[in-house]
Amino acid sequence: MLEAPYLLRPFRPDDLSSVIEINRVCLPENYSPYFFMEVYKSCPEAFIIAEKERKVAGYIMCRLEFGFSDVRRFRMVRKGHVVSVAVMPDYRRQGIGKELVLAAMKALELHGAEECFLEVRTANEDAVRLYKNMGFDTARVATHYYHDGADAYVMSIKLPHNPPMN
Ligand SMILES: CC(C)(COP(=O)(O)OP(=O)(O)OC[C@H]1O[C@@H](n2cnc3c(N)ncnc32)[C@H](O)[C@@H]1OP(=O)(O)O)[C@@H](O)C(=O)NCCC(=O)NCCS
Repeated sequence: MLEAPYLLRPFRPDDLSSVIEINRVCLPENYSPYFFMEVYKSCPEAFIIAEKERKVAGYIMCRLEFGFSDVRRFRMVRKGHVVSVAVMPDYRRQGIGKELVLAAMKALELHGAEECFLEVRTANEDAVRLYKNMGFDTARVATHYYHDGADAYVMSIKLPHNPPMN
């Protein structure tokens, strides 16, 4: 049988409870409703929902920041920060995570970001592999980055990102 398609669309405030639920199920880092809305307001176009079978299957939310470049030495740049991305377990390994990251990078680029970065637990092999396969490089290890003491890789990629044609 053909797999039902998914679609990506902008986040709407009435998605908030679904996003909070996905975040709670998928990640140990949970945030207040206020925090989600603050990230949304900072760059609405880079808060994206994946919808499948009329359900919210995943999300990505990002902020625009200004700081030292991870990929161009000693330069200050506008950077897109992937604050959180998650796909519900039943909907994983269908390409949704990758498409969410690609769509967010496009939105960040349109807002002038010259690179995109994120933190990921060093033990989160699925996510680290996905980002590496997409072209992210590990800029550094942030030790004890998470509240439970776990380390993070800070991973970065230059924008615009032109994925290889296949
Ligand atoms: C990380 C995460 C967002 C990835 O989401 P996803 O939708 O499974 O991602 P994708 O489907 O795009 O890619 C995942 C893998 O599935 C594979 N895949 C994609 N389409 C596929 C298909 N049709 N059939 C089989 N495999 C497929 C991809 O090649 C990729 O494999 P790889 O990791 O070996 O390269 C998801 O695992 C998740 O929510 N994890 C928990 C939260 C989390 O860790 N978030 C990241 C914090 S930084």
